[in-house]
Parts: sequence; C-alpha cells; structure tokens
Amino acid sequence: MPDLLSLRDLAVRTARSVVPELAIRTGRPIEKNSKSSATDLVTDADLWSETRIAEILHEARPNDSIQGEEGTTITGTSGIRWIIDPIDGTTNFVYGHPGFSVSIGAELDGEPVIGVVVDPILGDEFVAALGHGATRNGDSIQVNTVTVLSEALLATGFGYQPAHRRKQAKELVEILPRVRDIRRMGGAALDLASVACGRVDAFFERGLAPWDIAAGSVIVSEAGGRVCDLSGENPTGDFVVASPEGILSELLSLLRNVDAAGP
Ligand code: IPD
Ligand code: CA
Repeated sequence: MPDLLSLRDLAVRTARSVVPELAIRTGRPIEKNSKSSATDLVTDADLWSETRIAEILHEARPNDSIQGEEGTTITGTSGIRWIIDPIDGTTNFVYGHPGFSVSIGAELDGEPVIGVVVDPILGDEFVAALGHGATRNGDSIQVNTVTVLSEALLATGFGYQPAHRRKQAKELVEILPRVRDIRRMGGAALDLASVACGRVDAFFERGLAPWDIAAGSVIVSEAGGRVCDLSGENPTGDFVVASPEGILSELLSLLRNVDAAGP
C-alpha cells in the first residue's frame, strides 16, 4: 500500500508548481481554440499546465498511470492513476474570473484516494487523502449540517453541448423555486471543494468528465459529504451529486423527478 500522505504531498507540490504562472496569465489576451463545441475552450496555458504536471508526477513516480484532460495518457504498473484537470473552468481562466482551478486526483486500484484542488486567484488549497480528512489551507473542513432542501444553497454547472444546456435550463425552472438559491461559479472541481468547506450546501451537474470530479470527490467525502449519481451509486460523470447526508435523499428525489420529466 503506497503512503497516501506522501502521494498527497506530491500532488500539492505539483499543483504549486503551475499555480503562480496561471495566476499571472489569467485574463490576459490568450491564444484560444475550441474543442467539443464553440463554447468549449482550450488555451496554451491548459496545455502548458498539463505538460508540466504530468512531467513532475512521472519523474517522481515513473510506474504510475496518468490521465489528463488535454490528452496525456501514460499506462503504469503501480496501481496508482493520476487524473489531472490542468485548468478546470477554462472559460473563467480566459476572462480572469475566479472559479477556475488546478485539479489533481489519484486512484489506487480504481478507488479515489487523493484530491488536491487549488484556486490560483484566491490562493485556496483544498487537500484530502482517503482516511486523513480534508483541509482548506491546512484547516480541517466539513460539509454543512443542513437538513432541509428548501434552506440549501446549491451549485451547478452547464455543459458545452447545446442539448445538455437546454435540459439543464428546463430542470432549473423546477429546482430554483424549491431551494434557497443556485450558484454557477464556472468550475466543477471548485464547486465540489465549495461543498466540502460549506461555501455552498450541495452541487449537481450532468455530463461531467472524470478529470472534473476526481480530486473534488475525495475532498467532499473526506469532509463528511456524499458524492454519487442519480441512483445514489458511485458517480460516472454522467450525473454527479455532492451533498451532506442531511439533504441527500430529498435532493436526489427532486433531481430524479426533474430528470424523468423528459428532454
Ligand atoms: C468545465 C467546468 C464547468 C462545467 C463543465 C466542465 P473545463 O471544465 O468544470 O464548471 O460546467 O461541465 O466541462 O472544460 O473548463 O475543464
Ligand atoms: Ca479543463
């Protein structure tokens, strides 16, 4: 069994090696291209950040697997797989808007064990290792103790595909009158970290990728929350819900009802 605390510390050091440069580059005129749709942006900074993160992890642990959003794929033999989003929330990054982050997660034999999400603008470091709790800038964090959905502040996000967005917008019409309010910050990794530290009560989004949730999921569960899909099972990304136990069943039932209401 690898030492999870040394993996966690490696992930923190690695994130810190790219964060200062991203804090400088955000909001400046940037070379950008689109990927899956016109709204799905990638910049030179995403590619630079992923290359640097993958180099550091590979040099430190050459037998680990690495998967990155921008195409890094290394197949290793150690049972550890790093899952990187070099900039989660690229649209925010392009505009110089807070809400983007560097997200580095790791799985051991398929089980999520490490989560590090760093916010270059606010300087917040959210860190967790399985069985060792979650911290924000070194201080222990916990999800909120809310028990009534109508008193819950929810975060969500919108995908890049127009069909997804249409469905997401229709669902919000049903959800918004039943909760305290909704926030759309612009990055799923920080949305998850926000649930973990109680900056929002819960988060849901459909159509996410493994790199959007790998690190943030560990941070939420180590902060005492649950991360699951609409059926309460391990999330695939297809639908991700992160919530304190106190409102989970009420939230899942609302989300299932609006999902069943059709396209
Ligand atoms: C996106 C952000 C956004 C979410 C999108 C993601 P990216 O990640 O997490 O908040 O709504 O679904 O794809 O593409 O900027 O890394
Ligand atoms: Ca990204």
